[in-house]
Amino acid sequence: MSTPRRVVAGNWKMNHGPDATRSFFEALGSVPDGPRVAIFPPAICLPAAVGAPGRDARIELGVQNVHAAESGAYTGETSVAMAAEAGAGLVLVGHSERRHVFGETDADVAAKVARVLQHGLEPVICVGETLDQRKAGQLEAVLDRQIRAALASLPAGARYMVAYEPVWAIGTGETATPDDAAEAHGLLRARLREVHGGDSDAVPILYGGSVKPGNAADLMDALGVDGVLVGGASLKAEDFAGIIAAA
Ligand code: PGA
Repeated sequence: MSTPRRVVAGNWKMNHGPDATRSFFEALGSVPDGPRVAIFPPAICLPAAVGAPGRDARIELGVQNVHAAESGAYTGETSVAMAAEAGAGLVLVGHSERRHVFGETDADVAAKVARVLQHGLEPVICVGETLDQRKAGQLEAVLDRQIRAALASLPAGARYMVAYEPVWAIGTGETATPDDAAEAHGLLRARLREVHGGDSDAVPILYGGSVKPGNAADLMDALGVDGVLVGGASLKAEDFAGIIAAA
């Protein structure tokens, strides 16, 4: 069984314009050998990230969302082709804010994943249960439904990542315990194996939800956690560097 390389990814959400993007990369400087490091700035800041003085070229770049259509009359949207041309190699798909604030469905997620793969980019498929779903004992059913819908668009051997982000832990300061994370990651890993067999062992499964420099090492030590997807703590170079160091 191949173990995925550790991944530390930062999702800036709707924070940091072009100037702050350049300052961030200058302050972060070069990253240590070892983990894959990625930043998802706002799409409009990708060119600033690509050209940021002092950016370690090993830091991968991605967008936080795309539209599933190839092009057309979709005011305000970003296509995968545009994101790729602007320097994105990765695409977050189905982040909980997309699902819960913007009403994205499992079918939308599947269509986006298919389009991302068609252009040779790597989707990062986000899944996770709400607090109500967790309390109602629906963790497994929710993860199962979300991951199966996304996997339907993914041929075995495709390059992608999964991010487990319990909705109740995102931006709340509440973190899943390493045991909670291990349970969910185990469920997800089992689904990947069921659908894609041993090919899926190289797919990283990241944990996300209030990851900070102080809890990153414990979370990444949890069984089946291959890395982290960081929101708030990825905005400051110092905090993000601390999380990279923990990987
Ligand atoms: P958070 O966000 O680290 O601020 O909780 C995580 C995410 O939404 O990816």
